[in-house]
Amino acid sequence: MNHLDFAKRIALDAGALIKSKLDAPYVTNEKSSSFDLVTEVDRAAEQLIRQRITEQYPGHAFLGEEESFEEAGGIGGELDKVYRVPFLWIVDPIDGTSNFVHQIPGFTVSIALACRGELVLGVIYDPSSGDLYWAEKGTGAYVNGSPITVSDANRLEQLMIGTGFPTDEGARAAVVECLGKLSPKCRSIRSMGSAALQLAYVASGKLGAYWEYGLSVWDTAAGVVLIQEAGGTVTDAAGQPFRLFMKNIVASNGRVQEQMLDHMKLVEA
Ligand code: IPD
Ligand code: CA
Ligand code: CA
Repeated sequence: MNHLDFAKRIALDAGALIKSKLDAPYVTNEKSSSFDLVTEVDRAAEQLIRQRITEQYPGHAFLGEEESFEEAGGIGGELDKVYRVPFLWIVDPIDGTSNFVHQIPGFTVSIALACRGELVLGVIYDPSSGDLYWAEKGTGAYVNGSPITVSDANRLEQLMIGTGFPTDEGARAAVVECLGKLSPKCRSIRSMGSAALQLAYVASGKLGAYWEYGLSVWDTAAGVVLIQEAGGTVTDAAGQPFRLFMKNIVASNGRVQEQMLDHMKLVEA
């Protein structure tokens, strides 16, 4: 099995585990605040994914949201190492834990693979809809086997735009300030509670653009591969190209990227 088929398989298996626990009793803990949750199901899904990767590819490194950098195999707390590791799996076992806890659809499994710091594949699985998104560098982006592309609209007024409300107070305030500036200019704004899902929606043309501040690499890595392969653009809020550990993200069909950035520049993030 190649890397992509393997990633799809484990995303589906982790998604099935998560879905099976939706109505089950599980322990929920707060991390940095009551906005920032982790459940036993997040940990179990990450453990499943990590175990499968370790068995299949013992030499590969692993970075999951629920593991500290210190524990992450091959990284040892040094982010620079990411650019030297031949294969690094970047995993968010549940992106959208708040949706999961409140039984709202829109939580995803997000799995990406980086080779010496370069993203080469991304898989995002939405167990509620059953949609499996994937992309591998140079071979296009797909949902359930059908090719996807970004929206071909040229103006924000023609587009739905996604955003999220990060756990960090300052980042959340910056998002809200941007929202005030963008909402009169676009068709409407949605916040679906999973960064990965919204990036997949940009890749498939459902959303024309998405922005959020204060994100982590496991939220964005898989979605970035999807958008790049679907013909879109991802930068930071200052318009600089995507980098693995950047926190502020502006993603779009490319055609409206400058219009998005014009609004971001008005806000201090
Ligand atoms: C969160 C989701 C949410 C976004 C937050 C993320 P988590 O990830 O992606 O949409 O607004 O900033 O932290 O905690 O559910 O994995
Ligand atoms: Ca996340
Ligand atoms: Ca998560």
